[in-house]
Amino acid sequence: MKHKIAPSILAADFGNLQRDCEMVNNSEADWFHIDVMDGHFVPNISYGMPVIKAIKKHARKPLDVHLMIEKPERYIEEFAEIGADIITVHYESTVHLHRTLTQIENAGCKAGIVLNLTTPVSVLEDILPKCYMVLLMSINPGFGGQKLEEITYSKISQLRDMINHKRLNTLIEIDGGVNGSNSRKLIERGADVLVAGSYVFKSENPIKTISELKSI
Ligand code: DX5
Ligand code: ZN
Repeated sequence: MKHKIAPSILAADFGNLQRDCEMVNNSEADWFHIDVMDGHFVPNISYGMPVIKAIKKHARKPLDVHLMIEKPERYIEEFAEIGADIITVHYESTVHLHRTLTQIENAGCKAGIVLNLTTPVSVLEDILPKCYMVLLMSINPGFGGQKLEEITYSKISQLRDMINHKRLNTLIEIDGGVNGSNSRKLIERGADVLVAGSYVFKSENPIKTISELKSI
């Protein structure tokens, strides 16, 4: 399967949101990556429902909603209602993970788990069959524009082995510091989806940058 590219709207120009959404529509990108931060789970606050509604109005590709919020179970139905297609929650943010994933599925979305940098892949052993996707953070979440941490590569390999061993189709998504120099290695290790924020939106020609990431 060809890997997917999910530009992170966090790095878009919010004064020109429609224009940037159209850019993603017209590019070879597969999904819109939507980062929700609450100022508690991560130190930063990003955007919430009204902005996601505005994105949904223009987006012609699935919304991959990454919740960096405490107790995400409080808002699952609302995110589904405003147009989320995939919802990922942090392993570290919710106590009853199995219940939260079921809640996401019942709301009609695909469910995924996110692991912080130092949360080991082994915690997924029992829950993996329920995951449409696992997002491995390759930075400390909260801000775009950081450098991908080396630990990411071995975590991808471990997760790939676990998925293959269990004969699952779970996707592996990587988020944070993805660029043209590390993307090949990430794919080779077994990543299926690459999120890219600054590398895409701060480039001179985002459509071309997405195309290059896609054609690895
Ligand atoms: C950070 C977010 C990322 C961020 C990635 O917590 O989860 O999705 O937008 O941005 P870059 O690609 O600039 O590292
Ligand atoms: Zn993200």
